[in-house]
Amino acid sequence: MPKVYSGDLTKMFDISGKKAVIIGGAGGFGKAIAEGYAANGCSVLISSRREEALKAAKAEIEAVAAPGVKVCYFAGDAGDEETVKAMLAYAVSEEGLGGCDILVNSQGINKKMFSHDIDTEFFEKMLHTNITSLMLTCKYFGNWMKDHNLDGAEYQEVEPGKANPNQGYGKIINIGSVRGIRAVKNGGNGNVPYNTTKGAVEMLTKAFAADLRPNIQVNAIGPTITYTPMMVGILSDDEETRNKAAAPLPAMRIGHEIDVVGPAIFLASASSDMVTASTIYPDGGLVATS
Ligand SMILES: NC(=O)c1ccc[n+]([C@@H]2O[C@H](COP(=O)([O-])OP(=O)(O)OC[C@H]3O[C@@H](n4cnc5c(N)ncnc54)[C@H](OP(=O)(O)O)[C@@H]3O)[C@@H](O)[C@H]2O)c1
Repeated sequence: MPKVYSGDLTKMFDISGKKAVIIGGAGGFGKAIAEGYAANGCSVLISSRREEALKAAKAEIEAVAAPGVKVCYFAGDAGDEETVKAMLAYAVSEEGLGGCDILVNSQGINKKMFSHDIDTEFFEKMLHTNITSLMLTCKYFGNWMKDHNLDGAEYQEVEPGKANPNQGYGKIINIGSVRGIRAVKNGGNGNVPYNTTKGAVEMLTKAFAADLRPNIQVNAIGPTITYTPMMVGILSDDEETRNKAAAPLPAMRIGHEIDVVGPAIFLASASSDMVTASTIYPDGGLVATS
């Protein structure tokens, strides 16, 4: 049913009191989203492999968190099925968040390899991190939300080989990329492996949206090139040089981590309840003009 927002625009995007699990939450985009959520009243669990990075990120997120917000972490590899099950168990326990309303997949790796030089082992590692880990977290967290966020409705048994009949609510946000729908022109820039994985994020998002219907919205955010820790060593360390590469774009600059935060709040809020199986591109116009 349509909700009345009392003339207060902020209520349309209200995420206060919600609980979000953010994989890659100590990384560039993931931490920016975790800070944006925590500052607006949403408790967060961040996860990735390196515990030291998680501890440091937790302190930075706590520094901007609204009163009453819980910030915690879980260290582990999201590409490992048993680890994802343990992450879910921790997230929904009282020690963790005590539930889960929002899942953000912001994990990923990147390595430039021209086609004659593609290292098959690393290609498979990229597929595993950039795709298999998203399948695992969408599978376990998505079905947990379906089975538990029932708002008073009765739980129905899930039968093997049939769709999950439960109608729990939730929001899933996968960080894809403009490279999911645009190859790099003029030679590709060694992007065959990365483009391939990000193209798969687009379809994984749509397919999970169809599978987890009707009350779990699954969407993606496709940012443009942004100088996060992933891009150190890939992009120039000089900002002016980096922006020169973006000169043909309408925005005439590369992305900033903050550029994904507004879309991530929108996709986590009730305002996006009719938006599913979509991708938002905070890309400075790259997709439309290249
Ligand atoms: N930066 C860009 O230009 C750009 C543009 C478009 C899209 N993206 C996408 O945005 C997402 C976030 O990237 P970012 O730029 O923020 O890079 P980042 O700072 O390197 O963040 C990536 C995070 O993923 C974590 N991670 C990697 N493998 C993992 C695994 N197996 N299990 C759990 N966590 C894992 C990393 O932590 P650990 O190494 O400690 O596990 C790190 O926290 C990625 O999907 C990336 O492809 C980036």
